[in-house]
Amino acid sequence: FLVDKGNHRHFMAKEIHEQPEVVGRTLANYVDMARGQVVLREELPFDFARLSRLSITACGTAYYAGLVAKYWFETLARLPVEIDVASETRYREPPLERDGLTLVISQSGETADTLASLRYAKAQGQHTLAVVNVPTSTIARESSAVMPTFAGPEIGVASTKAFSCQLTVLLCLALAAGRARGTLSAERERAVVDALITAPGLMAEAVKMEAEVEGLAREIAKARDVLYLGRGTSYPMALEGALKLKEISYIHAEGYAAGELKHGPIALIDESVPVIVIAPHDAIFEKTVSNMQEVAARGGKIILVGDAKGAAAAGLDTLATLTMPDVDPVIAPIVYAVPIQLIAYHTAVFMGKDVDQPRNLAKSVTVE
Ligand code: G6P
Repeated sequence: FLVDKGNHRHFMAKEIHEQPEVVGRTLANYVDMARGQVVLREELPFDFARLSRLSITACGTAYYAGLVAKYWFETLARLPVEIDVASETRYREPPLERDGLTLVISQSGETADTLASLRYAKAQGQHTLAVVNVPTSTIARESSAVMPTFAGPEIGVASTKAFSCQLTVLLCLALAAGRARGTLSAERERAVVDALITAPGLMAEAVKMEAEVEGLAREIAKARDVLYLGRGTSYPMALEGALKLKEISYIHAEGYAAGELKHGPIALIDESVPVIVIAPHDAIFEKTVSNMQEVAARGGKIILVGDAKGAAAAGLDTLATLTMPDVDPVIAPIVYAVPIQLIAYHTAVFMGKDVDQPRNLAKSVTVE
């Protein structure tokens, strides 16, 4: 069907703005809001309770969605997760248990490495579950079960709305796994579902920070290198933030686990390096504050993407603070996807780059 940019300058902008709607649509397909429960429409050909391990594989942004999901499956379902990029999985020849489960994540459902990893898992006798945005794709057809995202067609090469919808489905899957494995009480499930239901509204609020992000983008555009830091699920979000920025602005960016700062990247820090810290006020926030202090002590320019409570608790001089609405930490990655994408988008637009068609990149990599 017809896909246009609407009132937006770029597909990427339109797709960022669409997120409250498409995440809401995705949620409507996975949760029973009244009962406060996840409902999977398709019957699964395996039992989460019988799994000893979950293997996840994907490429690019979908891989980072998988990395976030690893934290969810491990904490909510106490299910050990092994995850790798598909270009490694396919040649590593990992031993995979017969009747175990491989989860593949792909917007297009056509990425060559992801497809090859899926086929490898099948050949090892694994069940396969695909989180895909294109239900008619090869990966969807070849998987034993499919959990669709309802992002609609994504045109911008840099993935945005597909990512937040992948996170939404993955959190629902982790809840379903937790219930099946008896690691999640009905109350906790309801609490997470209640939090999930607020995500579209919170994302709509986050989108409103656009003018502020535009101002910040002018600063980031001057940098040669940008560092992104985070802990817990904010660590993969830092990786995703760095990927988005380098993909479309061509500024060198690196994402790092905040606790690893002292093992390398701290050597890079001076006044010329913006350090973007993704830090909702969660259980490990104080640990991230120590890392921010290390950055500040070396003259690094901190850009905090956090909430008001965190900003007050940190009590640090930052170059800027993007004050996010308060969120239940479990859903933070879904909501924080918005500012991360806006930062990359506005930096690239300010620098005059072609954000929808960045050089050398393809939307779907169907050849190796
Ligand atoms: C390409 C795209 C990325 C995407 C990755 C995986 O590199 O530019 O945006 O994340 O492929 O694509 P998939 O369709 O498998 O999610």
